[in-house]
Amino acid sequence: YESTLSDLKDKIKSYPDFPKEGIVFRDIFSVLRDPACLRNILDLMVAKIELLKWTDVDVVVGLESRGFILAPLLAVKLNAGFVPVRKKGRLPGVCKEIAYTLEYRSDVLEIQQDSIHQGQRVLIIDDLIATGGSLGATCKLLSGLNANVVGCLVLLELEQLHGSKNVEAPVESLITF
Ligand code: PRP
Ligand code: HPA
Repeated sequence: YESTLSDLKDKIKSYPDFPKEGIVFRDIFSVLRDPACLRNILDLMVAKIELLKWTDVDVVVGLESRGFILAPLLAVKLNAGFVPVRKKGRLPGVCKEIAYTLEYRSDVLEIQQDSIHQGQRVLIIDDLIATGGSLGATCKLLSGLNANVVGCLVLLELEQLHGSKNVEAPVESLITF
């Protein structure tokens, strides 16, 4: 799998000074548009989950917006359900919310209170971890619902930001920059 991973890494386009000066933006869409890359990403994520023995996942949680791309695809592969964590004001019914900061802004995330039952095994999926603000806040939301967070898996990790330190669950990634 190492060669596939380094091929994927080479194909990820980087955009200096987007969306703000000083940020080098890694664009996952530059690889998702390639059918073989998309399939490889999914297969490698499933293989990683098996290797880590993150078994019996009941629910795959995806973070708005780019977590919504990979999470449902993985949920189907794992025979799990899909639950969204969204930016504030977009989900109906009773929600739990949490404020958080990320690499270049701050925001509020929400989850529907009845979306996860106590003790359910949850895998959290996003495209990328930068500061870990988003994944850290999501873990806190899930703890508040008494979920059992097995771990977080992302496609890309921006290593120099040490984002996993801000996340109470284990964080794994396919590719690091
Ligand atoms: C991006 C990215 C992650 C998060 C990572 O999402 O998709 O969710 O930031 O940053 P962090 O580790 O510092 O929290 P963002 O909310 O910017 O935008 P999106 O709606 O386009 O996914
Ligand atoms: N790429 C994509 N999303 C991001 C990044 C990045 O480099 N940093 C924070 N969110």
